[in-house]
Amino acid sequence: MNDIERAVEQFRTLLEEQLARTQRMEAGVAPRDFARQEQIAIGVAPGDGIGPIIVREARRVLEALLGDEIASGRIVLRDIPGLTLENRLALGKSVPEESLAAIKACDVLLKGPTTTPKGGSMESANVTLRRELDLYANVRPVAVPEEGIDWIFFRENTEGEYVLGSRGVEIPDRLCMDFKVTTRPGTRRIARAAFEYAKNNGKTRVAIVTKANIMKKTDGSFSAICHEVAEEYPGIEAEDWYIDIMTANLVNPAIRNRFQVFLLPNLYGDIITDEAAQIQGGVGTAGSANTGDRYAMFEAIHGSAPRLIEEGLGEYASPESILRACVLLLRHIARPDVANRLERALDSCALRVTGDPTGATCRAYADAILQLLA
Ligand code: IPM
Ligand code: MG
Repeated sequence: MNDIERAVEQFRTLLEEQLARTQRMEAGVAPRDFARQEQIAIGVAPGDGIGPIIVREARRVLEALLGDEIASGRIVLRDIPGLTLENRLALGKSVPEESLAAIKACDVLLKGPTTTPKGGSMESANVTLRRELDLYANVRPVAVPEEGIDWIFFRENTEGEYVLGSRGVEIPDRLCMDFKVTTRPGTRRIARAAFEYAKNNGKTRVAIVTKANIMKKTDGSFSAICHEVAEEYPGIEAEDWYIDIMTANLVNPAIRNRFQVFLLPNLYGDIITDEAAQIQGGVGTAGSANTGDRYAMFEAIHGSAPRLIEEGLGEYASPESILRACVLLLRHIARPDVANRLERALDSCALRVTGDPTGATCRAYADAILQLLA
C-alpha cells in the first residue's frame, strides 16, 4: 500500500467511527437526578505535580462542608487509584483501565491536574476522560464584580480539534493533516446546555464564537446549528462573533462587561478561557466543570505546574482554582446552599497565594477558608 492509500484508509476508519459516535449521541442517556439519589459517590484523583497538594486541601474543605452527609453515608468520597504520570507511563495508558473503572463507579469526579508527556503518542488524560465519559460541556465561569464582569463559557468538550488530535494523517517528510470534527448532535447538545443556562439564570444574550468565515464546514455548521437551537429560546438573543475579535473584546474594558454567556467550539474555548481567567486574576483562580449526561468531572483550569515542584515550591501552590471547581461540583450534585457558602468564603478570603514564600501556603489558604466557613 502506498502512502496515499494508507492515509485514505485511515480517513475512512475515522469517518466510520465518527458517524457511529453521532448515532450513539442521538440515542442519548438518561441524566441523573442527584436530588433524589440515595447515595452520591465523589471520586477524588490527586493527579501529578501540585495536584496531590491542592487536592489534599480541597478534600479537607469538602469533608468539612459535607460532614453530616458523609457521616450518614449519603455522600462518599472515594480515592481513585492509578492516575499518576508514573503509573500511566509504566502502563502506556493515558487513563489506566483500573482508574477508569473506579471513576465510572462514581457519580462525579474531582480531579487534580495531570501531566501530559511531551512528544510520544500518549494522549492527555483530560482528553481521554472527556471522551470516555462523554463530558461534552466544559463550563467555566469568570467574574470581576467591581467591573460588572459575569461571564460563563460553554466550551464544546468532545469534538472539534480535540477528538482526533492524536490521529492525524502524515505522508512522511512531506505533509501532515489534522482533523476538526463538528457533528449535528454534538453541537445541538452544547448549544442546548448554553441556552438552558441562559434561560434559567436570567441571561439575555449568548455569544456564539467561531471562525466561520474561514473554517466554513465545521465552524459554519456549528454557528448554524446554534442558531437553530436559539430559535427555541425567544427571549434570548444569539449573537455571532469571530474568535479573533472576541479575544480583543475581552481586553477592551469599554465593552467587555456586556457579554454574558459564550458558546464555542473546543479549541477556541480552550484558548479564550485562559485569557478570561487571567482577567479575573490568573489561571489559578478559575474552576472548570466538565459535564455530560451521565458523568461529570471537576478540575482546576490550570496544569500540574511541574516547575513549582522542581523548585520545591509545591506547598505554595494555590488551591483556589480547585476549590472553585468544588463550588461547581456541589452545585452539580444539587447542593446549592453548600456551594454558595463555599463561594462566599472564596470571594471574601483576603489571603493571597503567590506560588512562592511571598504569599500564603496552600494549607494556610485552606485553613482560612475553613475558618470563614465555621
Ligand atoms: C484545559 C487544558 C486541557 C485542554 C489540556 C490539559 C489537555 O488546557 O482543560 O483547558 O487543552 O483542554
Ligand atoms: Mg486550557
